[in-house]
Amino acid sequence: MAASENINIVDINAELQKQAPQEILRYAYENFGNIAISFSGAEDVVLIDMASKITEKLSVFSLDTGRLHPETYRFLEKVRTHYQIDIDVQFPDPDAVNKLVREKGLFSFYTDDHKECCGIRKIMPLRKKLLAVDAWVTGQRRDQSPGTRTEIPVIQDDRAFARPGESLTKFNPLANWSSKQVWDYIRNNDVPYNELHDRGFISIGCEPCTRPTGPGQHEREGRWWWEEATKKECGLHAVNIKK
Ligand code: ADX
Ligand code: SF4
Repeated sequence: MAASENINIVDINAELQKQAPQEILRYAYENFGNIAISFSGAEDVVLIDMASKITEKLSVFSLDTGRLHPETYRFLEKVRTHYQIDIDVQFPDPDAVNKLVREKGLFSFYTDDHKECCGIRKIMPLRKKLLAVDAWVTGQRRDQSPGTRTEIPVIQDDRAFARPGESLTKFNPLANWSSKQVWDYIRNNDVPYNELHDRGFISIGCEPCTRPTGPGQHEREGRWWWEEATKKECGLHAVNIKK
């Protein structure tokens, strides 16, 4: 089926909020033919595992910023072979990276905000990828980021990345799940995970912008730790940022 026309996202969200992630995914695959899962972390493999039991047409992509941990590359490969899926790996524009690095060096994000580097290494490639789909699925959870994610719906209109004059639907099927529910699912279903999780990392992004979190720390404190909680979004989920 092609992308659903004229759906009232707010009403559908109210209904889907009561459903399990598997039912939300089922709805997504029944209503959108051209839909892709964005994959980088533990939650995303839970979604891949669930979706692989619902559809044979899994489309999965990952943004390779060039700054990921070696363990993350091994994890991507583990997932690729475990589920026997193609992962559409998107890379940043080399000229844009070259200009940034030449002018500001390899670690400019520590001193002048991470937006420029994330813009080049993540957002531009994501924008290009999303031009080619009608809907995308993310592993965002509400309790992942107190500063920015407490209100995310399970289905939303993604105006930040839609093609001009068209709609793009975004699904966050795990929005209402806790970290414990995600990890119970991973353990109970033998889902592959990033080996960094066994070394104190909870939320994992690029290597220079991620660190392990200690007891009592929120998982988001391990990301862009030099910035305020309300700024801990790189722009992938621009719809989370209140103007
Ligand atoms: S981020 O915006 O802070 O980097 P986070 O790491 O919490 O995002 O991940 C939330 C969701 O964003 C993931 O579940 C995944 O769907 C998507 N995502 C994050 N990073 C990537 C990436 N490098 N490639 C593809 N999807 C990603
Ligand atoms: Fe650059 Fe850090 Fe953003 Fe990765 S997370 S794209 S290294 S600023």
